[in-house]
Amino acid sequence: MAIIAVAGRKGGIGKSTIAGNLAGEFAAMGHSVLLLDADPQHSLADWADLGEGLLSRCVEKVKSGSVETLRARARTAEQAADFVLIDTPPGISEAAYQAALVADLVLLPCGPSPLDLLALKGVLNLALKARAERRSKRPRIRLVPSRVLMHTNLGRSLSSSLEEVGKKVLPPIGQRVVVAEAVARGLTVAEYAPNSLSREEFQKLAKAVQKLVAR
Ligand SMILES: Nc1ncnc2c1ncn2[C@@H]1O[C@H](COP(=O)(O)OP(=O)(O)OP(=O)(O)O)[C@@H](O)[C@H]1O
Ligand SMILES: [Mg+2]
Repeated sequence: MAIIAVAGRKGGIGKSTIAGNLAGEFAAMGHSVLLLDADPQHSLADWADLGEGLLSRCVEKVKSGSVETLRARARTAEQAADFVLIDTPPGISEAAYQAALVADLVLLPCGPSPLDLLALKGVLNLALKARAERRSKRPRIRLVPSRVLMHTNLGRSLSSSLEEVGKKVLPPIGQRVVVAEAVARGLTVAEYAPNSLSREEFQKLAKAVQKLVAR
């Protein structure tokens, strides 16, 4: 039904966390999901290996160096799964570009530091370049405030700072302990802490993403 890529120039900004937990939410909604781990670090696959939950059944590594196959794999996966999520490495990588060439939607997580905002520009240009090459309105591009410290001024103002970048901003994901605890058990937040605030945030984000790709 839809291919969603998660990309970002900055390391550690929450790309894999968002990809994995969106998969958790889509599965909880009753959808089939496949996660393509296109990052040579394979954080998603490592996370999946820590437990026996959803991720252990739906993460597939895409070998580094075989970015050409990433697009083909995403297209065939789309025939079998309602949502295909592609996690990409940090930086302006060929894998992120290939993902943007095949995705319906590219999510760009961004943290609250001014440096995070500056780093957005490069990856935004990469997604726009892919859109120009496709001569299409695809991929749609959305920003996701990530690892937000909700009780700080910088955290609270992140969504409005991101709006100035000129792309629409999706519901934010807060920096919360349960996110890391879920990883330690190899689970998504939907599985590990289904009634938590963090769960509510991922649910809101997933609903917003679902609405976008259904259009
Ligand atoms: N919302 C959050 N709350 C708490 N911890 C988080 C959150 N998001 C990410 N983390 C933690 O921050 C670290 C980096 O997150 P993650 O691996 O998702 O980032 P990334 O952007 O994929 O990194 P990389 O660029 O290395 O691929 C991980 O230890 C993860 O558990
Ligand atoms: Mg990652």
